[in-house]
Amino acid sequence: MIPTQQIPNPTMPTCKTPRLLEGQKALVTGANSGIGRAAALSLAEAGADVVVNYIGGEEAAADVVKEIESRGSRGIAYRADISDEQQVQAMFAEMCREFGTVDILVNNAGIQKDSPFDQMTLEQWNAVLNVNLTGQFLCAREAVREFKRRGVVPEVSCSAGKIISMSSVHDSIPWAGHVNYATSKGGIMLMYKSIAQEMAPYRIRVNAIAPGAVRTPINTEAWETPAAYEELMQLIPYKRIGEPRDIGQAVVWLASDQSDYLVGTTLYVDGGMMLYPGFATGG
Ligand code: BGC
Repeated sequence: MIPTQQIPNPTMPTCKTPRLLEGQKALVTGANSGIGRAAALSLAEAGADVVVNYIGGEEAAADVVKEIESRGSRGIAYRADISDEQQVQAMFAEMCREFGTVDILVNNAGIQKDSPFDQMTLEQWNAVLNVNLTGQFLCAREAVREFKRRGVVPEVSCSAGKIISMSSVHDSIPWAGHVNYATSKGGIMLMYKSIAQEMAPYRIRVNAIAPGAVRTPINTEAWETPAAYEELMQLIPYKRIGEPRDIGQAVVWLASDQSDYLVGTTLYVDGGMMLYPGFATGG
């Protein structure tokens, strides 16, 4: 195994986002930080107007809106708890009033409440399932209602709407100490695939992105010290941590007509984390 420090420039390339989503309207949940923020900015760079959903961190949400506007798109910050049915419905109603419709939903918001399994409280279990799974259900349902009402507008997109479900490598990799989180991501997989199957005849595309380790506030302890970073690299064949923008770019492509024939598929954006790196030398 090559030591990480011998690999030149272990950072992501910077490339310009093509304006693949000109005129489309997107909603990103949990868009005031981490992967959601990057998704919102990449969508704006690609020409979409974006609703920035958040629950805490109003200032950070306002900052994302400013960044969206500096990219020539419209942005609206909207506070809503995505696990609350009424708040979700009010958010979609407001979006339709302000932007006219919804073309893209990035079902991103997610939390971790980690604990050894036998010490996990029902609150920790429910909190994670409520946001990560029920939240995605509630938002996907409202988006689908709007997609079906409007149908395909060929000048905008070949499909009536796109949902991108933010999953994780832990939809497949079991994760000790994170049973609630891994369960929510496993659940997301069959939820979004079943929605994809049911909605494909309406030209609604539902797909997922499963990030590996990405440099965001959710997993700071996995990368903030050199020792932690070095240990993390044992799990990543590509030998760099993911940057939020790696996921933002994948979101744009999945939301665009360039991926029109992708229906019910998970894109693992993980630097090879799913490749059982332990077997590179063992087995
Ligand atoms: C988790 C991160 C973790 C990554 C890889 C993500 O889904 O939110 O905390 O670093 O998976 O294990």
